[in-house]
Amino acid sequence: MEKELENLKVALMNDLKKATKEADVLNVKSEHLGKKSRIAALLQDLKNMSSDEKRKYGSLINLTKKEMEGMVNDYLVTLENKSNITFDDTIEEDVSIGSLHPVTIVAKEVTDILKRMGFTVVSGREMESEYYNFEALNIPKDHPARDMQDTFYLDNGMLLRTQTSGDQIHSMERLGAPLRICSPGRTFRNEDLDANHENTFFQIEGMVIDKNIAIGNLMYIMQQILREVFRSDVKVRLRPGFFPFTEPSYEMDMSCVICGGKGCPTCKNAGWIELIGCGMVHPNVLKAGGIDPLEYNGFAFGIGLTRLAMMKYKINDIRVLNSGDIRYLENFKIN
Ligand code: DAH
Repeated sequence: MEKELENLKVALMNDLKKATKEADVLNVKSEHLGKKSRIAALLQDLKNMSSDEKRKYGSLINLTKKEMEGMVNDYLVTLENKSNITFDDTIEEDVSIGSLHPVTIVAKEVTDILKRMGFTVVSGREMESEYYNFEALNIPKDHPARDMQDTFYLDNGMLLRTQTSGDQIHSMERLGAPLRICSPGRTFRNEDLDANHENTFFQIEGMVIDKNIAIGNLMYIMQQILREVFRSDVKVRLRPGFFPFTEPSYEMDMSCVICGGKGCPTCKNAGWIELIGCGMVHPNVLKAGGIDPLEYNGFAFGIGLTRLAMMKYKINDIRVLNSGDIRYLENFKIN
């Protein structure tokens, strides 16, 4: 009997929860507490019970009935309170689903392409030491190459990484040779902001180390990435560059899609946008990573993901990407 009475309360609560308006609650009430309800039948049955049973169950059944009536009344109050809350229609209509940031989209595309080529995706650290950001990359303290990158130095002796290249060293230390990694991430430089410069931007670093690696392998991968991201052959040019951590070094530029190569503020009137720095890994860098340069060689590359996103989506001002202006950014619900 006790169990049955408990079940009646549970059943009532379950039905109440489904009720969304007062009329529903009253229907539930008549079903669970009305003349034809189980609790009413139990009260009727009392008459036929022995006086012992009457004493035992009478008060229990009555108490349960009272509790059930209380539950109905409580629920009516809850419902009334809920209906007093008014909603502002404009807020309801404004709800829209989010979209990925353009840089996130291209970062994912490039990492997916590299993953298919057997690269492992690693992730570095935004707060980095001078050693990993510069020294281990063959950029000693007084090397003029440090001027190329205006660095945010932190009070704790660390810095905000100016490039993802430090992940080359972390990965060699951690994974050894042969190696095939890529590392997308945020980088920082103390730049004056304009249409083409931001103090916070994204790169993806890549590194392949094995025996007998050739420049042709590097070029193939760069072309493949651009072909897949732009879904067509894009006009690129390769020119000699200088990076202390690669020898030889190259820079790959892409014809500016904003002006069609004619020259505009985004490409500083050059008609070309610098997109990729790359080259064959310098033996000193292999040594810093604990790898014997007589046994292994390799290539590395750094792709400007922010610039890649600008070219892919024809964004002519880099500043909008960090602006957080959802109205602008949500235009890129792509793929
Ligand atoms: N770290 C360079 C930069 O930020 C880009 C780069 C150049 C990365 C050559 C590389 C590389 O891995 O081999 O400008």
